[in-house]
Amino acid sequence: MGGPPDGRYDALVIGGGIIGLVTAWRAALRGLRTALADPAPGGGAAWVAAGMLAAVTELHYGEQTLLGLNMASARRYPDFVAELEEASGQDVGHRACGTLAVAFDADDRAHLRELHTFQRGLGLESEWLTGRECRRLEPMLAPGVHGGLRVSGDNQVDPRRLTAALLTACERAGVAFHRARAERLLLDGDRATGIELAGGTRLTAERTVLAAGSLSGRLAGVPDDVLPPVRPVKGQVLRLSVPERYAPFLSRTVRAVVRGGPVYLVPRENGELVIGATSEELGWDTTVTAGGVYELLRDAHEVVPGITELPLVETCAGLRPGSPDNAPMLGPTALPGLLLATGHHRNGVLLTPITGDVMAEALTSGELPPEARPFTPRRFAAPAATPSPAQEQHP
Ligand code: GLY
Repeated sequence: MGGPPDGRYDALVIGGGIIGLVTAWRAALRGLRTALADPAPGGGAAWVAAGMLAAVTELHYGEQTLLGLNMASARRYPDFVAELEEASGQDVGHRACGTLAVAFDADDRAHLRELHTFQRGLGLESEWLTGRECRRLEPMLAPGVHGGLRVSGDNQVDPRRLTAALLTACERAGVAFHRARAERLLLDGDRATGIELAGGTRLTAERTVLAAGSLSGRLAGVPDDVLPPVRPVKGQVLRLSVPERYAPFLSRTVRAVVRGGPVYLVPRENGELVIGATSEELGWDTTVTAGGVYELLRDAHEVVPGITELPLVETCAGLRPGSPDNAPMLGPTALPGLLLATGHHRNGVLLTPITGDVMAEALTSGELPPEARPFTPRRFAAPAATPSPAQEQHP
């Protein structure tokens, strides 16, 4: 595909996963001439993800700043979905079903109790239930479930349908797709000016966004001091199918801590039941292993024994783009013309709406909106060299 008439885009996005797609869509809606480069747009980690919008139940200690961004994105989801479904003509499987997080044994219960105290201390909506109350909500839960947390605001979306809808919305908004791999960033002096694709085609742009998920740290030509510190974090996921005669098998997302290990079961309205996920630091490995499948089934079975009756229809593994503080890198880098939208780690699907909005703002105005400023990529820049105390003693 050729470029715009003057050969230069306003915005060029590297990566066609959900984060690249939402960035391109939102940029095009702002009137920017936008291109996206990816050999196979619509893939990436979202193809594997379960699609939990779990800002509260997936809260981690020390991640309160990230919680603010997660909650802000969760609040935008209903309007975002309505706009995307209108723009694409496609249903994205958004389900306001809430989440139940349950404990398997006394230690897991103590862990969840702590989490509940932490959540309440932050003013989050989370209700403690006894084991019996949990089973009343979800009769398929094991008799041994020791209580849990009901979080009505943690919903779900189908990431595969979300991605497909974003692709269509991009096409309809006039995003130019270049179905080739970005080989390297092009520089003119100290400014990023575009990319060279595999095969040698060059695309130039006023602003280039690196949104290549776990691959974002590998683009040639990016100076070391702005290369994002992203690493792949492997997640294995299973997909089961609930036959009509068992429906509704589960009515809401069920998360559990089983002997200290997390597992989740995400039931879709179309009968799919997603079970996830491992979290493995194994580099670029996406092998589905017997051990991974065994652990997921073992833990899910402890909480919902009836899963053994269900057909297992798919196993897959993807790579979360992990960052040093588990939060995304959004907006301008120290290299003029280069922006980042990567490092979303466990929260890519949840953070899709707000990422699209803040990146469109950064592409248009050059500035990040206030809610995204803590997530500037510059927080990982090496500190400027300062004289050591010993040096300071000399005149
Ligand atoms: N947010 C779910 C996961 O990363 O497995």
